[in-house]
Amino acid sequence: MGTYTYLNTQLVPSSEATLSIYDHGFLYGDGAFEGIRSYSRCIFKLKEHIERLYRSAKSLDITLPIDQTAFINAVVETAKANDLDSGYIRVSISRGVGLGLDPAHLKSQATITISTEQLRLYPDEMYKNGLIVITASTRVPPSVCIDPQIKSLGRYVNNITAKMEANRVGAGEALMLNMEGRVAEASGDNIFLVIRGELLTPPTSEGALPGITRATVIECAHKASIPVREATITLYDCYNCDEAFLTGTAAEVIPMVDLDGRAIGSGKPGPITNSLIADFRALTVTDGVHY
Ligand SMILES: Cc1ncc(COP(=O)(O)O)c(C=O)c1O
Repeated sequence: MGTYTYLNTQLVPSSEATLSIYDHGFLYGDGAFEGIRSYSRCIFKLKEHIERLYRSAKSLDITLPIDQTAFINAVVETAKANDLDSGYIRVSISRGVGLGLDPAHLKSQATITISTEQLRLYPDEMYKNGLIVITASTRVPPSVCIDPQIKSLGRYVNNITAKMEANRVGAGEALMLNMEGRVAEASGDNIFLVIRGELLTPPTSEGALPGITRATVIECAHKASIPVREATITLYDCYNCDEAFLTGTAAEVIPMVDLDGRAIGSGKPGPITNSLIADFRALTVTDGVHY
């Protein structure tokens, strides 16, 4: 962890960044978060991450004590204080502190934490050779229960269970289906398929998070004149597509070459995937807030 952590309204030494045991985030998963990356002192798509955080907060009816501009400044200040060159920035918020689930009993305003970390999710060879993925038995929750568009703390217990399914069989990621059995996303990433030169990705209404990396890849595809479309996707489509890849802040753009024991396409990262990886990487050092 970086030397300093932003806690509520100020930077404090990380060793002093402690939370109440009655924080609603800890007690009930009553909060939201963002994982953000910095590349060579450029906080990639920072504005977009903070906008998504505020959409999550609004959906959960959590009022944050600072506005989006002040929040962006707080993230930049934290990165600077930790002299972060490239790394991961974790932003978490919760409804506040108070025992009992009734928000009327809260004794504080919303909790905010911002911290920095060094991060390497997958080794280089997985970007070259691709990732082995399994389909998890754990489903994404239906949006009538908890909308997967909200990057809420509580929702992630499902994603963690799915990831543990992947870990048990030595796979790199777990694909998650919705209650109708269609593909929603992976435990920590969105999914794209390439079928006859066209990029397909499930719409958020299928249970996918509106990923910032997903949006960036769509942007890259438009620039490269690769047709891209939101579409409902089944496992049959995944098993029979030409190429597939996952996208996420931590994973970036990573080829998926095997699903449930079936090789995808040639079983190697495909040309469209590789060109989008290169286009995405070029953007990471330019498209953000520099400090
Ligand atoms: C469940 C889930 N889906 C998709 C993503 C990818 O979103 P992003 O590209 O904004 O990191 C993430 C990671 O944040 C995630 O946790």
